[in-house]
Formats: sequence, structure tokens, C-alpha cells
Amino acid sequence: MNAVSESAYLLGHASQEHMRLIRQAETLAPHTSRLLRLAGIARGQLVLDIGSGVGDVAQLAAELVGTSGRVVGLERDPNALRVARRRAGEAGAAQIEFRECDLNSMRIEGQFDAIVGRFVLMFLPDPGATIRRLVRLLRPGGVFVSQEPAWSMFYPACARLPLRAACGRALCDAFIQSGARPDMGLELHAAMLAAGLTEPRTVIEVPTTTNAHGDQWLPDLLATVRSRTGAAFNGGEWLEPMGTLSERLGREVDSAKAFAPLVPLIGTYARSVPLSLHF
Ligand SMILES: C[S@@+](CC[C@H](N)C(=O)[O-])C[C@H]1O[C@@H](n2cnc3c(N)ncnc32)[C@H](O)[C@@H]1O
Repeated sequence: MNAVSESAYLLGHASQEHMRLIRQAETLAPHTSRLLRLAGIARGQLVLDIGSGVGDVAQLAAELVGTSGRVVGLERDPNALRVARRRAGEAGAAQIEFRECDLNSMRIEGQFDAIVGRFVLMFLPDPGATIRRLVRLLRPGGVFVSQEPAWSMFYPACARLPLRAACGRALCDAFIQSGARPDMGLELHAAMLAAGLTEPRTVIEVPTTTNAHGDQWLPDLLATVRSRTGAAFNGGEWLEPMGTLSERLGREVDSAKAFAPLVPLIGTYARSVPLSLHF
């Protein structure tokens, strides 16, 4: 399968998934915020956030652009949009506006200083084509920023953590079966060049479980995937009982005296050609 239709979107649109996204976002926030700053997102800018989910990346961008800037978040799941709007309201982020939009068939106009996205290109049927369409919405010299996973870089970090590595493998099998790209991060540099963006820069960070939600991250993801794929999920016996997985992952890390990696994040940013270089 090479198309990720709405019904085939592996992680689905249940409210439990929205809660999972919020917990995951708390762990990823410092990594994404650093990337957005490096890419030059700053006060007063107009930013487009693609695949907003429940709005966490849009909120990080809103902090950087301040009240003189604006963030437009695009998301196709109306339930996620409701949660995203409510949370932005509670955070007092009046500079964020969320719009319902399918990135595969979007009709958006405007000239943005920056386009940002996290963990979304991996779910699109043709991420390269989507980047090419989005680049037309950047002002000359504007920046495209993406943060996506590189699951194949997860396993070396789990050399002494076989249970953790097995969780990763089960997730990746499910991603691939659904048509998603677990190594999307490794494709970003070439995709941005192919879209006419210049001088891509990449930062790679491996988050580790340092907050209360960290140990829950893999069991959370596996529970979502299992609830979506049911019997087809190639989880293995080690998964059971799922209720103790988080504790078992914690014990494995303690006895190996290892750090506990989340998936490596590839953050790539590149600029559209500035006006002075247009002939
Ligand atoms: C893994 S979530 C990430 C959400 C958010 N960017 C974050 O990092 O918290 C991916 C989001 O992309 C959305 N999405 C997937 N395919 C999409 C499409 N074709 N158009 C718009 N949104 C899409 C999903 O509905 C989901 O909310």
C-alpha cells in the first residue's frame, strides 16, 4: 500500500490518541523548539504549521512569533481541530488559527515566512510532491522546517535494551504496513533540494526519557497501534501483559544501566530562493 488515506492513517483519531499526542509533545517540546529557533523563526512572522494534530507545534511557533506574529495550523481531523482550538484558547494564544485541510488536496493561499511540521510528512503518500506544493506558499527567502523520525537509528541506541528494540520493530512493521515512512527524517534533505529549497541544514537529536511520560511513550504508541490494527498487529508475546510493559521497559533500562532513547529526530530546514537570486 502506498497511500495513507484518512481511514488508513495508522494512529487514528480517537480521543486517547489526542491525549497521547499531548504527552508525546511534552517530551519533544525542547527538541522542536530548538529546531524552530535555529531555523530562524522569530517575532512578527507568519508561520504555517502542517498536520497540527492537537496544536502543540503551533503553540511552540506562537511563543516564538509573539503577539505581533500569526500561526495558521492545518489539520484534517475535525476532532483534533476542536481540541487544538480549545487548548490554544486556554493558553491565551490568540495568534493561532486552525483550519481544516487535507494536505493531499489543499487549497491554501498566502505568503508565509515559515512552514513547519513534525511527524506528518511520514504519513503522506507523496511527501516530496507535498513539499513542492507547500514551497509555493513561502515568501522568497522563507524557511521550510521539518522534524521527522529515523527509526533505523533507534536500534543502535537500544543495543543493550532488547525489549525496547522489539517494541520499535513492532511499531515500524505496522508503520510500513500502513504505508507510512518510519525513516522519513532521512529523506528530508533530498526532498527539500528536489523542491528547489537551498542549503538544507540538519540537526539530529535523540530524546531520552527524562520526564514522567517518557516510560509510557512506547507502550502508549503500541496501544494505539494495536487498537487500530487489532489481530494484524505483529506484537509478539513479550508485549503481554501490555499493562506492565512500561514497568518492564523501566526495569530493563535500570539493569542495563543504560539511557532510554526515544526515536531519533531528524530536523531539517532550508530556504526558498531569495528575491535577489531570482533572474
Ligand atoms: C503524529 S500526528 C503529529 C501532530 C503534531 N504535528 C505533533 O507533532 O504533535 C500527525 C497528524 O497529521 C495529521 N495528518 C495526517 N495526514 C494528513 C493530511 N493528509 N492532511 C492533514 N493532516 C494530516 C493527522 O491527522 C495527525 O493529527
